[in-house]
Amino acid sequence: MKKKLILNIYINIIFLIILSLNTQKLLADEVFEKGREIFLEQGTCASCHTLNDAGSQANIGPNLNEIRPDLNRVIIAVTNGIGVMPSFDGILTTDEINSVAHYVDTATE
Ligand code: HEC
Repeated sequence: MKKKLILNIYINIIFLIILSLNTQKLLADEVFEKGREIFLEQGTCASCHTLNDAGSQANIGPNLNEIRPDLNRVIIAVTNGIGVMPSFDGILTTDEINSVAHYVDTATE
């Protein structure tokens, strides 16, 4: 009887762990999708950059599949602007900049 109870508790714990892992993955996917949308639309990134995942083929800015920037590099470039690339501070929210950075970082891994 007691053994069965303990077994049940273990099963529940394992179930909860799997559930929470899945939720995190879902959240990450949502940010990825949101980031792609920003890349193609509000951010207009696709008009200057090539990125395979987004299906964009522009070469005003560097090919993102080639430079494979990490999260911070994208955040800095988008927030402050760099060279010809304008700053998106005030155009995109911090949340949107983080999303598009997560997207570019993940899509070029
Ligand atoms: C008007 C064209 C244009 C748009 C729009 C644009 N970029 Fe850029 N981007 C550039 C150019 C040009 C550079 C190279 C700047 C330099 O190194 O002088 C660049 C550089 C970068 C870099 C590399 C930064 C580094 O540290 O070398 C990243 C990452 C980047 N852009 C991401 C983005 C993202 C994400 C967006 C959308 C929010 C975006 N860009 C929108 C033109 C653009």
